[in-house]
Amino acid sequence: MTFSDDFVVPTFSVAEIGDDQRWSTWPATQPLERGPQPRPDWLVTGAAAIDTELGIVKTGKEADVFLLERAVPDDVTLADGSSRTSVLAAKRYRSAENSDFHRGAQYREGRRTRNTRDGRAMARGSSHGRAVQAGLWAWAEFEALSRMFERGVPVPYPVQISGTEILMEFIGDGRTAAPRLAQVKEDGAALWPLFEQVSEILLGFARAGFAHGDLSPYNLLVHDGRVVVIDVPQLVDVVSNPNGVALLERDCRNVADWFARRGFERDPEQIFAECLGEVF
Ligand SMILES: Nc1ncnc2c1ncn2[C@@H]1O[C@H](COP(=O)(O)OP(=O)(O)O)[C@@H](O)[C@H]1O
Ligand SMILES: [Mg+2]
Repeated sequence: MTFSDDFVVPTFSVAEIGDDQRWSTWPATQPLERGPQPRPDWLVTGAAAIDTELGIVKTGKEADVFLLERAVPDDVTLADGSSRTSVLAAKRYRSAENSDFHRGAQYREGRRTRNTRDGRAMARGSSHGRAVQAGLWAWAEFEALSRMFERGVPVPYPVQISGTEILMEFIGDGRTAAPRLAQVKEDGAALWPLFEQVSEILLGFARAGFAHGDLSPYNLLVHDGRVVVIDVPQLVDVVSNPNGVALLERDCRNVADWFARRGFERDPEQIFAECLGEVF
């Protein structure tokens, strides 16, 4: 029997964990809570790793996205070939009135805290309902990311899910997030390569029988000329969802309209027809 480095008990003296840190939540995740294999080589899986909160990328209505560094301390020897540090995006669905990841002790306790909060939320009734909902959204997004990643659609690699938090590949340079499509400066014919990639994303979803469901220039990131699609919890089954076809058409129109406003005219009906051709 062989053991992966996930299960090696750290032998170094207990490092000081700051208010903005926690032990890596990787070792506590179950196989189904981890992203598809093979895992990318940048992924840090060592049990000695520490997660450090580096800041907020974006706050939203249902979820907030944070920047997280997962790193193995310098004094820990690593298995050959395993990664020492990686920057991740942590998307946290809101489960209650406020998100409390920042509140020191609860943050550090990780999983156990979540269970305690679940217990209290359950006692309160209504907020437990919200917690469950947040967990379902997180699962839906994690599964959608995994599914699309495996099909080769350019999404951030989904690292793991823990309750209402998804950790995924951070798209950007170092600690700077990649701009959204809405923020790129190109216009006119210069948009052609970006349009081609966005079309391929639409078609990639369609080949799997899905529409993104909320596709817009805010859910497309552009990193070094490469388009990555994000924000997929509401992935729509085009066939079984009564609104599936309409939502697919809306995705196509949102995208085509944005390109047209930037001086790159494309017929939304044609993209839509191509997508439908892939679904049916
Ligand atoms: N994996 C990621 N890498 C870099 N930035 C990201 C990542 N995921 C999300 N973001 C940033 O956070 C913002 C919000 O994320 P998103 O998943 O779209 O959530 P929301 O539901 O709030 O729209 C995005 O527009 C993007 O700027
Ligand atoms: Mg979004």
